[in-house]
Amino acid sequence: MKFFIDTANLDDIRDLAATGLLDGVTTNPSLVAKTGRGFLEVVEEITRIVDGPVSAECVATDHETMLKEGEKLAAIAPNIAVKVPLTVDGLRTCKALSTQGVMVNVTLCFSPAQALLAAKAGAAFISPFVGRLDDIGQDGMALIAEICQIYANYDFDTEVLVASVRGPQHVITAAKLGADVATVPPNVLRQLFNHPLTDKGLAAFLADWDKTGQSIL
Ligand code: G3P
Repeated sequence: MKFFIDTANLDDIRDLAATGLLDGVTTNPSLVAKTGRGFLEVVEEITRIVDGPVSAECVATDHETMLKEGEKLAAIAPNIAVKVPLTVDGLRTCKALSTQGVMVNVTLCFSPAQALLAAKAGAAFISPFVGRLDDIGQDGMALIAEICQIYANYDFDTEVLVASVRGPQHVITAAKLGADVATVPPNVLRQLFNHPLTDKGLAAFLADWDKTGQSIL
């Protein structure tokens, strides 16, 4: 399973890239707005920190303008994945960009039918938002199971990128279902490392080691 982080915060991206466990980054207009910096410059900096796919989202809603935005974003670096919304115009743009060889991440997916259309439009990634479905009393992870089944039935190359992740349990369930990628907020990625018994065990080992008076180096 690949781990992307869902942020435009460069400090977090640098910090987590240093673990060697980061496979990509996703951004959206809300996350970029939080940085208070210029969109194109932030995205370009991220592509220099991370080798894997960096999602940058179009903001136009009509196909012609969205395509121009997508081409401009794709020209920033070869590892840009242009993000388009799951609308008719978004999928037209997805088809056009993917035909040009550009990676496209289709975002704001909330149904298996939408995910099927995105795969047919040549998306490199489909982004179902599990947390936002849970927030309205629906089952986000059930959507992931349905999409994984549909994509497997037809051997689609589109990767299932679980988005709107709220905690480690979403990541574990997504992994059990065989989702290709989870994009997680930086705090959730950090939480994945932790277990209280690891901390307790390490403290006990180190206390016993101190008593020996030895050193390895
Ligand atoms: O970037 C897309 C998605 O992960 C947003 O998540 O937390 O705003 O629902 P959230």
